[in-house]
Amino acid sequence: MEILIKPTNKTISASQGSTLLEAFLENDIAISYSCLSGRCGTCRCKVIEGSVNGPAAAEGRLAQQGQFVLACQSRVETDSIIEIPEPDEIVTHPTKTIKAEIVSFDILSNDVRRLRLKTNKTFDYSPGQFANLTFWREDGTRSYSMAGTSDDDSLEFHIRLVPNGRVTSKLDEQIKIGASIKLNGPLGASYLRRKNTDPMLCIATGTGLAPILSIVRGALESGMQNNIQLVFGARTEEDLYGLDYLEKLASEYANFQYLIALDHTKPNSPHFRGLVTEAITERFPELKNWRIYLAGAPAMVEAASLVCSKRGADIDRIYADAFYPSG
Ligand code: FES
Repeated sequence: MEILIKPTNKTISASQGSTLLEAFLENDIAISYSCLSGRCGTCRCKVIEGSVNGPAAAEGRLAQQGQFVLACQSRVETDSIIEIPEPDEIVTHPTKTIKAEIVSFDILSNDVRRLRLKTNKTFDYSPGQFANLTFWREDGTRSYSMAGTSDDDSLEFHIRLVPNGRVTSKLDEQIKIGASIKLNGPLGASYLRRKNTDPMLCIATGTGLAPILSIVRGALESGMQNNIQLVFGARTEEDLYGLDYLEKLASEYANFQYLIALDHTKPNSPHFRGLVTEAITERFPELKNWRIYLAGAPAMVEAASLVCSKRGADIDRIYADAFYPSG
């Protein structure tokens, strides 16, 4: 089978039975990938023409024109035209499993904790990616985004404690400083795109602030001069955390501003009263050519994506990992 790659217009051959990703790598086509198992979405590419059997992205059916498939899980069934992300968007951090030592576990709010880990090996990732942490063997693995950048001394995660959650409700009692846990990552395709000057709108609710902080810090600290706006939503003032950090970034970098949106505000509150989608509607009437980064509850991610695309944001420039946190 022949595959015409867009936008480079290079034609490659895919041998019978090999995945799209294997065909790309055999032919030196640069493409991002990470988990190799259909979980992270990093290898997503678009079918422009032809039929591709892509179970992870097309629910077992043949993916047709205009559909996205996961290259690591998909096989071409006919000659095809496949679009892969622009070369300047590509990052490759193959997923690995390593040991990490717990160096701190602090309270950030009533129900959010900050976990810091040191790894025994180098752990590179792109701002916005996540990892699986295994706290104990049986059903003890949960996914969390890194809140810092690869340059930090330790890895930082924000963990929401879920009442009766099988793992998180026990962490306050069971986390031991100095103990080891297993870390598997990095994963995820919702990472910072660096090689552009487009304005960025970063939207977070709850502990979705972790990957968004990573993206904002990654951009600012690497000298990106893009206009960077952050909207952080929560139910009440008591649910907020990380404000001192946001304030510090805003005072240090003129190209960064943030807005807090609360469902319920106190009298004279300086914050926007309403949902993040309402804040976007009111404050960002035009989002053509913006890059949108989203992290938080799936319902918010879906609603905010819709609001942003209605305001002109290109769907291909809206980045969000499907992230269903569990307790
Ligand atoms: Fe294909 Fe992760 S590398 S989904």
